[in-house]
Amino acid sequence: MNILFGYPKHPNPLYRQRACFPGVLSVCFLFHVKQRARRTFHVKQINFPEKDFYFPVVCGTINIIDICKEELDVGKIVSVTNQKGGVGKTTTAVSLAYQLAEEGKKTLFVDIDPQANGTSSFGINKRTITRSVYEVLIGSCDIREAIIATPYKNADVLPTNMNLAGAEIEMVSMDNREGLLKAALNKVRHLYDYIIIDCPPSLSLLTLNALTASGSVLIPLQPEYLALEGVSQLVNTIKLVKNRYNPALYIEGVLLTMYDGRMNVTLQVANEIKKYFGSKVYKTAICRNVRLSEAPSHGVPVQVYDRYSKGALAYRELTREFLQRNEDGLS
Ligand SMILES: Nc1ncnc2c1ncn2[C@@H]1O[C@H](COP(=O)(O)OP(=O)(O)O)[C@@H](O)[C@H]1O
Ligand SMILES: [Mg+2]
Repeated sequence: MNILFGYPKHPNPLYRQRACFPGVLSVCFLFHVKQRARRTFHVKQINFPEKDFYFPVVCGTINIIDICKEELDVGKIVSVTNQKGGVGKTTTAVSLAYQLAEEGKKTLFVDIDPQANGTSSFGINKRTITRSVYEVLIGSCDIREAIIATPYKNADVLPTNMNLAGAEIEMVSMDNREGLLKAALNKVRHLYDYIIIDCPPSLSLLTLNALTASGSVLIPLQPEYLALEGVSQLVNTIKLVKNRYNPALYIEGVLLTMYDGRMNVTLQVANEIKKYFGSKVYKTAICRNVRLSEAPSHGVPVQVYDRYSKGALAYRELTREFLQRNEDGLS
């Protein structure tokens, strides 16, 4: 039984998920206090004395943790999303996933972009794989059979290939079409600390699947003219998914990519982005670095291609910030 809590009156909207009403069986809640920032709790609980509580629920959560200990041991799923192409989604998803693995976190990189750039960045030949995320989504293969171990410790990949481009048409007529990826990932989530999904440059059914499966969304933004155009559409899509399919979804962070601090336009747009997203914007910005653009053609993450390049160092720094936000206070 999955019943989640909300803090209807909590001042922070992150905590103020859908309200709980006495006797209502399915209510949602993101348990986002710092200690447990990575987790959504599925809890067996009904009947609250009143609907305008929130401190009582804070107390109640202590019991909740007891009830659902097994839920604590599942990995956090993060989608790297922006419907704009060429903003650094794949570079970010690959570099973050690799670095998390290097930091000792068991990590799964999930490629749901039919272009398969992420898959080849991990040295996997998209032309020869026979089991990919496509087969998993349409139900012709189990996710456990499609996941490939990489040469890098702690890093696995759920690869993709061009077949995925046609998957959406097949998925449209399937039951639970927006929840297919979530259902598949649920089978392996307990094996990982983090699952990083590289999304295609669109707000398509594939992206919808990623957002429905995810705990949070990381948005790479290139601070250039019109960078914020389309962002409100992305934010609306996130809200829509939150309301309909995944109440616990939130914005993990906003990453400035291909950042060139010498250019006025970069600084101006970066300021606008910071005004819009506030503290969600990572302190680490990713500079332009030719090593980042060269690494994929060698089939390796940038950290392997040139460990001490500016790009590799920037993603290492980002990963530290990411982990700090997620794991500070976790025992
Ligand atoms: N910080 C960077 N500096 C230089 N080139 C970059 C940087 N980030 C990405 N690139 C290059 O820009 C192109 C687009 O990046 P990519 O990560 O594929 O974007 P997306 O997945 O959003 O389409 C790729 O050729 C990539 O190697
Ligand atoms: Mg990409």
